[in-house]
Amino acid sequence: MLEKIKETKEYIFSKVKTRPEVGIILGTGLGGLVKEIEIETDLDYREIPHFPESTVEGHSGKLIFGKLGGKPVVAMQGRFHFYEGYEMWQVIYPVRVMKYLGIKNLFVSNASGGVNPDFEIGDLMIITDHICLVPNPLIGKHIPEFGPRFPDMSEPYDKKLINLAKEIAAELGIKVQQGVYTATTGPTFETPAEYHYFRVIGSDTVGMSTVPEAIAARQMGIPCFAMSIITDLGVPGKIVEVSHEEVQKVASAAETKMTSIFKKMIERI
Ligand code: HPA
Repeated sequence: MLEKIKETKEYIFSKVKTRPEVGIILGTGLGGLVKEIEIETDLDYREIPHFPESTVEGHSGKLIFGKLGGKPVVAMQGRFHFYEGYEMWQVIYPVRVMKYLGIKNLFVSNASGGVNPDFEIGDLMIITDHICLVPNPLIGKHIPEFGPRFPDMSEPYDKKLINLAKEIAAELGIKVQQGVYTATTGPTFETPAEYHYFRVIGSDTVGMSTVPEAIAARQMGIPCFAMSIITDLGVPGKIVEVSHEEVQKVASAAETKMTSIFKKMIERI
C-alpha cells in the first residue's frame, strides 16, 4: 500500500508544481467550487497510477491543483463511494495520497437527507460528529506509518475549523445548521422507517460518503472540516420521492454559499 501511494505521489509531483496545503473533496453537485480555484493543472483520475476511477453521474473524476483563498490546494472533483463497488481502502486512497502530498487540513462536502425536523431543503449543515454505518475503512492490515491501530474519535471534526466556519458564516450572513451525519452504504435512498431510525439513533442528516474519508484523515492526524447540503428531508409528513437529479439540482443551487465559506476559511487558516 505504501509503495503504491508513493508511486502515485511521485507521478503527481512529476506533473504538478503546486505543493498543496489544503485538500478538498467535492460532493454531488458541488463541483462548482472549482471555478473559484486558480487552476495550475488538473489530472484525470484515469491517468493517475493506482487511483480508482469514478463512475457516478455528477462526479467528473479529476484531481485539481491550484490556489484558493491564496493557498495551494488539491481538490477532488468526484469521490469514490462504497456503493460503486470499491473496497474501503480504495474509497480512502485519495485521502492517504493527499497526506503524502503534504496537506495540513482536509475540507469535505456532501449532499444529504435531513432527518432533523428543524431543517429545510437547501440548508447548509456543519458536521460536528458522525455515525459510521458503513464498514470501517481502517479494517485490515495495520500500517503503522498511517497512524494508530485504534484511532481516537473524540473530536472527529476539528473544533477550531468548526468555530471558524461559524464565525465566517455569521459575517457573510449565511445560515448554517450543525449536527450529526450518519453514513449509510446506499445506493438506495431511505424508506420512511429508515429515516425514522436514523433520527432515533441521533442523526441530523444521512448520506453515502464523507465518514470514511474523515476517519482516514483523523487516523493520519489531519484536521478535518465537513459540510453537508440538505437536499431532501426524511422527516415525517415531508417525505417525497427523491432522485439523484433532484439531489444534484438542490446541491448546485446551494453551493455558492458553501463555496464562499470554504474559500474564506482557507484564506484564514
Ligand atoms: N439519503 C441518503 N443519501 C442522500 C440523501 C438521502 O436522503 N440525500 C442526498 N444524499
